[in-house]
Parts: sequence; structure tokens; C-alpha cells
Amino acid sequence: MHYYDIQGVKLTALANQFGTPLYVYDANKIIEKIAILRDSFKEVNIKIKYACKANTNLSILKLMRKHGVEIDVVSPQELQLALMAGYEGSQITFTPSGVSFDEIELAAEAGARINLDNLDVLEQFGQKYGNTKGALIRIKPHVFGGGNEKIMTAHPESKFGISIHQKDQILDIVKKYDMKIIGLHQHTGSDVKNADAFTQAASAILEMAFDFKDLEIIDLGGGFKVAYKDGDIVTDMAEVGQVLSDAFLKFSAEYGRPLQLWFEPGKFLVSEAGTFLTTTNAVKVDPIKTFVCVNSGLNHLGRPMMYGAYHDIFNASNENTQELEDYRVVGYICETDTFSWSSEGKQSERTMSKVSKGDIIAMKNAGAYCYSMASQYNSRVRPAEVLVYEGEAKLIRKRETFDDILRNTIEIDL
Ligand code: LLP
Repeated sequence: MHYYDIQGVKLTALANQFGTPLYVYDANKIIEKIAILRDSFKEVNIKIKYACKANTNLSILKLMRKHGVEIDVVSPQELQLALMAGYEGSQITFTPSGVSFDEIELAAEAGARINLDNLDVLEQFGQKYGNTKGALIRIKPHVFGGGNEKIMTAHPESKFGISIHQKDQILDIVKKYDMKIIGLHQHTGSDVKNADAFTQAASAILEMAFDFKDLEIIDLGGGFKVAYKDGDIVTDMAEVGQVLSDAFLKFSAEYGRPLQLWFEPGKFLVSEAGTFLTTTNAVKVDPIKTFVCVNSGLNHLGRPMMYGAYHDIFNASNENTQELEDYRVVGYICETDTFSWSSEGKQSERTMSKVSKGDIIAMKNAGAYCYSMASQYNSRVRPAEVLVYEGEAKLIRKRETFDDILRNTIEIDL
């Protein structure tokens, strides 16, 4: 089902008012997803830590905070953004991968909870803080789950976390420095649709958890799959919620102490809230297929080109769904930046209402990993962002200008 407005504000009106290309986000959708997640885990003491790498706009972070969602960051800059959004150090989790110990110290000094992801930083943390600061350990449970191989993070060959088979080494370090390990963490991958992958990973972590005496937290990461099109298989939140809550409550009873269950979803909270609006520069009728050429490309929305990701695309300027045609929707970058990939991961056509030059082409699921992965490739500026909040469209990031492209350039005399 396509929508032509967000909270009653027409997509075409947003495009007119703010120009294109434009990212627009529906605050209500984010609030709705927070409620679904909480409801799925209502039997346990759940904390949601938004994986802000999905969308770091300050206003989105503030919206999360307003609705009781805490935050997961992966860099000192995301940490800074979280603090700017009003989070306290203790509400922030730092889950980096292979960073220098300086970054870990910085986050620890800010009061963040840290997920240590290799034996080396575990040892350094022990040496520096002993039992004066608690930490979590990121475990790689050797489980397969995720939409495609590039976004699977818990399988045996993944770079993430400390292998579950290195438990003895972990315990040696913890003992050597009398460390206070307050939590175990794992993240299966992104776009994980089957509940099995979550339960396998959770069982592995919970089994191991009995060896750690100071636990307060079990952190099961993010990765819940959302719908990219009608009829898509998504993570069944009610099922995952029930199965994981049961396993967690059983574990807590045996462990002898109530614990917190943490999740750090990104896509689940923001993907469906976002729509990307572009303008048709040309409808190019080729003997074999018809291209819709829009004023954006892989510089703004790279997921189709990076992962063969499916984003639903529709003509927001033509609501007449009787007159349909097949179009290959492409960008303006000097590469084959096709937006219209098939669900089998191939470049393909989309059936859409007839497109004319100037029409607004909308792409769905644009709230997660779209703006946050955008670049200035081809020396083009990044788009503006708008949040529709309580029925009103608010600009939450200005479109870049040529000055932003030049900002750090130093021109030398040659
Ligand atoms: N926790 C950790 C430790 C993560 O590495 C990630 C995502 C998440 C949570 C959130 O995962 P989510 O709930 O959003 O699936 N750029 C890719 C996705 C990369 C995910 C990276 N890590 C994409 O556009 O599909």
C-alpha cells in the first residue's frame, strides 16, 4: 500500500516546500514502533538502546529520548551527538568494533556502558579500571542470521565480538584483574527474519552467563527485520518476544537475580518512518526499457547498490493506479546507480503509475542507513531532512551547499 501523505501532509507539498532530494520522517511511525517493541517484551525488564548509526539526526535522537529510549553509539562522534541530545552517560552504550583504547577510555570517562569486543581491550580495561568500572563483553556466538552476508555479524568468520570458544581466555583476564563484568552482549546481524537465529544466539549467551557472577544485563543487540514491501516476511515480534522473554525469565530465576534485558535496534525503529523524495529529471524511453532518471543517486541512498536492497518506489505525483507502466528507476551519478532492485537482488523494473518529467518519485524504508550513509560523491551535496511531528513538517537538517563541499579543502599554490 502506498501513502501519499504523512500525518495528512502531502508528500508532493513537502517536496514543493523544501525542495528535493529530501528525506522525510514520520515521528508517529517511530513512536508506534517503540510501543510494539515494548509490548512484545512486556513481561521482562527491557531497555531499548537505539542503535543510532541508523539515523543520527539530533531531532530523531531527541524524539527517542522523549519516548524513553536510550542509545547505542559506535564512535566518539555519535557519543557526542547522544550527549547533545540530552542523554546522560549512563544511558549511553558504546559498542565499537576494533577501535583504539583511547576511544574506549573516552566513553568510559563520559560514564557510558562499554561493550568490549576483543581480548586486547578487555585486558586493557582490566588493567586500567580493575573492578572500579563495570563493563559488558561482546560475544560472537557462532550463529548465522541476517539479510545478506555483508550484514551478518555473529557467524564464525565475523570480525565482531570475542568468540564464544574463547570463554576460558575471557575468564582468565576477568579473574586476573578482578573485573566487574556487568553484562554479556551479542548482535546477530541486520534484517534477521527468523526467530530461530535470535533464540540460538540468546541460548548460547545465557548458557555462558552462569560463569559471570556480577551480571546485571543481557544485551541481545538489534537486527529485527522490517517490511520492505507488502507481504514481506518480517521478524515476528510477538513470537520473538515470547520465546526470548521465557528463556530470559528462566535464566534470571536460575541465576538468582533479576536482570535487565537490553536490545539495540536501528532499522526496526526508524526504517519505515522514512521516505525519500526525488524529482524526475527525465523519462528516457529506450528500445528495451524505460528509465526514470531522478535527481539523486547512490550518493544519497546507497543501500540498493551496496546490498542489492529492495526499496519500494512509487510516483507520489500520480495517484491514478489504473495507468501503470514498468520503469527502471536510476540516479544521476556517473555509475550504474539503479534504485529499483528486485527482491532477488537484481537490477529490475518497477510497475508504477505513469511517470512524467517533474513527477515526485518516493522511495520507502528510507529512515535507516540512508542519510547516515550518504556522501558527497560526484561533488554533490547531501539532501535536507524533515520530520513530520504532531502534524507539522519541521526542517531538521538543511540541504548542504557548495561551501560544505569545500569546507576542509586547502588550496595550495601550484
Ligand atoms: N547493534 C550492533 C552492535 C550493530 O552492529 C547494529 C548494526 C545494530 C545493533 C542495529 O542493527 P539493526 O537493528 O539496524 O539491523 N547498513 C546496513 C546495516 C548495517 C548494520 C550495522 N550494525 C543496511 O543498510 O542494511
